[in-house]
Amino acid sequence: MAKQKLKRFAEFADYPHTFDFAYELQGKWHQEVFKNNNPIVLELGCGKGEYTVALAQEYPEKNYIGIDIKSNRMWVGAKKALDNNLNNVGFMRALMHRISELFAPGEVSEIWITFPDPFIRHRSAKHRLTHTRFLRLYKQILKPGGVINFKTDSDELFAFTQNMLQYLNITPEVVEFNVHENPDAEPMLKNVCTYYETLFLKRGKTIKFTRFKLDNLQEEKAAGFEVWFENERLKMVAEGKSTGL
Ligand SMILES: C[S@@+](CC[C@H](N)C(=O)[O-])C[C@H]1O[C@@H](n2cnc3c(N)ncnc32)[C@H](O)[C@@H]1O
Repeated sequence: MAKQKLKRFAEFADYPHTFDFAYELQGKWHQEVFKNNNPIVLELGCGKGEYTVALAQEYPEKNYIGIDIKSNRMWVGAKKALDNNLNNVGFMRALMHRISELFAPGEVSEIWITFPDPFIRHRSAKHRLTHTRFLRLYKQILKPGGVINFKTDSDELFAFTQNMLQYLNITPEVVEFNVHENPDAEPMLKNVCTYYETLFLKRGKTIKFTRFKLDNLQEEKAAGFEVWFENERLKMVAEGKSTGL
């Protein structure tokens, strides 16, 4: 393994504001980590944690936790938070499908999902971070009124998310089809550019964003999503609009 990667793993583990699958902190983040009652905001699949750090600088009255499985990437954000003396930031190495074991019901106020892997193939859809499989987990940890912010370059993942919200009868609060070309887009959407976002912009991709709440997510309806999605796929194959993969 590259020397720099090993060095980053070791430094990340030693930082005071980093955590590794911290199941023992479930329900105790306010009390034991941040030592205040300020809202907790998560960035899922945070990579280098650009949003975690930028939002923490902009909103010192909130607490931010970047979560990813790769600590050498999170090292970048963790170091920046340390260098800037940010005491409202943490980074945790963890897997997303364990999120409801890491936070207690209602412990989280807001979630950012930034440029997750799109898992384009139909059969991989359940790995998409906006799939109902994940939304049901997010709902468990979110406070009533908690919001999800989702930014992506992927037309397929964005369309999938919109269709799914429609199926769930959830009306998004914000929908942006081209963040960087809209003069009225929120400054934090335009001014913060993640590592992957920069790569995608260079390739000429447009950046999409949506914000929605899960208060109206009905368990029964969400549980039926996969059957509905499979039926939609079969319809598209029959109409020759998809190969079905
Ligand atoms: C395409 S990158 C985006 C990183 C960053 N948000 C950005 O925009 O630059 C996706 C990130 O999600 C992380 N990731 C993917 N699946 C994950 C999972 N199941 N649990 C935790 N992290 C995951 C990867 O390690 C990677 O850093």
